[in-house]
Amino acid sequence: MGLFAPLNPPLPAWPDARVWVIGASTGIGAAVARALLARGARVAVSARSADKLREVAGANANALVEPLDFTQTAAVASAWERIRAAWGGADLVLIVAGTHEEVRAWELSEGKSRALLETNLHGVINTTSAVVPGLLAQGRGALGIVSSVAGYRGLPKALVYGASKAALINFAETLYLDLNPKGLGVYLINPGFVRTPLTDRNAFRMPNLITAEEAADEIVAGLEAGDFEIHFPRAFTRKLKLMRLLPYRWYFALVRRATGL
Ligand SMILES: NC(=O)c1ccc[n+]([C@@H]2O[C@H](COP(=O)([O-])OP(=O)(O)OC[C@H]3O[C@@H](n4cnc5c(N)ncnc54)[C@H](OP(=O)(O)O)[C@@H]3O)[C@@H](O)[C@H]2O)c1
Repeated sequence: MGLFAPLNPPLPAWPDARVWVIGASTGIGAAVARALLARGARVAVSARSADKLREVAGANANALVEPLDFTQTAAVASAWERIRAAWGGADLVLIVAGTHEEVRAWELSEGKSRALLETNLHGVINTTSAVVPGLLAQGRGALGIVSSVAGYRGLPKALVYGASKAALINFAETLYLDLNPKGLGVYLINPGFVRTPLTDRNAFRMPNLITAEEAADEIVAGLEAGDFEIHFPRAFTRKLKLMRLLPYRWYFALVRRATGL
């Protein structure tokens, strides 16, 4: 493989692509689903809120609406079967769904953390385990997982959320090592701050905040480029990547200065 060759096999041109977006009722997932429908792809949209999914699908004949809770194994398996039966296969499964809650050390509780991990970690692993055998049987196709730059290193207020996203980064890296030699694509998507119903709850100033539509454009461009890691906005993620390299003493001091926490 050339030094600068894409890490993932190319996806079909969008008008030929069949994409399942999980977490498509609001925010980044809804914007990605809309962006792909606008480019002529066939898109199946899933999340728990059926009414919002129908809004995203609109009257587009290329859209399939498959409401589900992605932590439920049987629900994901039967939706996957229906989608592949409708399309005769699938080219890309994008797992965008996730949730966020601010937690500091003195607010930590078993119940809250279990609920967050159930969604952010188990939901993703559950969906991955449902789709991988079908993708392997096809011998082509790709899987994209939305994690977060909050998974790079520890950050205040992200006590359990950050841990779930760090786990997803590792999970996606390991999936890549397993699935790339089998001809499948694996994409790790690490957004910075994006204005969505999830971040509307944040009371703090979010640096380099972008819209969900801008995030969707970044994701579409990264998929087209075949990147393993799709991270944005670059002005923010470049700084965080540099901070990843710092020794703990400097890293902790910098985070304290930047957040005042
Ligand atoms: N916004 C940011 O700044 C930011 C930054 C980094 C990473 N991210 C990540 O990006 C992803 C999308 O976040 P967002 O900001 O777009 O938030 P959002 O608007 O709240 O979207 C979350 C999506 O996940 C779905 N979802 C949640 N639990 C689900 C479940 N059990 N089963 C099926 N679907 C479920 C929600 O739909 P229903 O409620 O209808 O089920 C919704 O479609 C998340 O993984 C988040 O951690 C966001």
